[in-house]
Amino acid sequence: MLDKVNELIDEVNAFSADTKEEIELFRIKYLGSKGFLKQLFSEFKNVPNNQKKEFGQAINNLKQVAEEKVDSLKVALDNTTEQKRIYGDLTRPSEPIELGSRHPISLVKNQIIEVFNRIGFTVSEGPEIEDDWHNFTALNLPEYHPARDMQDTFFIEKNPDILLRTHTSSVQVRYMENHQPPIRTISPGRVYRNEDISARSHCIFHQVEGLYIDTNVSFADLKQTLLYFTKEMFGKSKIRLRPSYFPFTEPSAEVDIYWGLKTETDYKITKGTGWLEIMGCGMVDPNVLTNCNIDPTKYSGYAFGMGIERIAMLLYQIPDIRMFYENDKRFLEQFKSVI
Ligand code: PHE
Repeated sequence: MLDKVNELIDEVNAFSADTKEEIELFRIKYLGSKGFLKQLFSEFKNVPNNQKKEFGQAINNLKQVAEEKVDSLKVALDNTTEQKRIYGDLTRPSEPIELGSRHPISLVKNQIIEVFNRIGFTVSEGPEIEDDWHNFTALNLPEYHPARDMQDTFFIEKNPDILLRTHTSSVQVRYMENHQPPIRTISPGRVYRNEDISARSHCIFHQVEGLYIDTNVSFADLKQTLLYFTKEMFGKSKIRLRPSYFPFTEPSAEVDIYWGLKTETDYKITKGTGWLEIMGCGMVDPNVLTNCNIDPTKYSGYAFGMGIERIAMLLYQIPDIRMFYENDKRFLEQFKSVI
């Protein structure tokens, strides 16, 4: 008799259930009005007196274990139902992880940096909110200089001294103020101009500007560097330098590359000439060197600057500059396969 009760206790301990119905069946089997416990209690009177105490303790024990089991199974079931409500089915396969891709502006910027890194240029960066000195005055553009109108400027809080930089030449001024030649640096970054937004121009865009200063730097050095760049970047090695004007360089030039006239697009983007303008450049004006505490009688240098959007548009045949800033996934996803 006692063995039977102990067997039942073991059975109860080993029992587990996942559904309400199973728990209920279990409860009826042990604790119900026709359950094991009822039967055992009714047999109690037949137990010899000397075994009554031990038997009584055993069935009470069985009752307690069975009740606790029912309670704990119910709590466990409630918890998993609650979890399912919050998290759903935890055993289901997860959502596929979507991989992003680099923005075309970053891709082209990194490519330009890499090309110049290979010939010893380092990367320098500076603030987008600039003061008048670094953006204009130090670059040979004193107050009231008419060339300031070449770059329509956003001023901060009507304070004419604080502005959004219109080119990353301001970074080069900062670099020269803190370093003595030899200097070989490129400055990539975002720039701002108060211009109407259209397919070809935007009030925010990106530039990479370069600066090289050492003893005996000549225009020939500049030309060789530009040839190297256009060859590496576009696989084209025919360039021409058109005389131009920038206040911070003298002489100054506009760089065109010969793109060719093989396809219809070539005709379109070069307006039938085969030539494409890609950047401005020149020999750093001695006044700029003096402003930045570099002795122009000892050193000379060249500088150049290009718009990243323009180059990205050429490389990937992008027809409208606004596409870079709209974050349309259908546009951005097209650059997934480009490293
Ligand atoms: N800073 C000029 C611009 O933003 C580009 C440039 C840089 C031209 C260096 C010449 C030399 O238009």
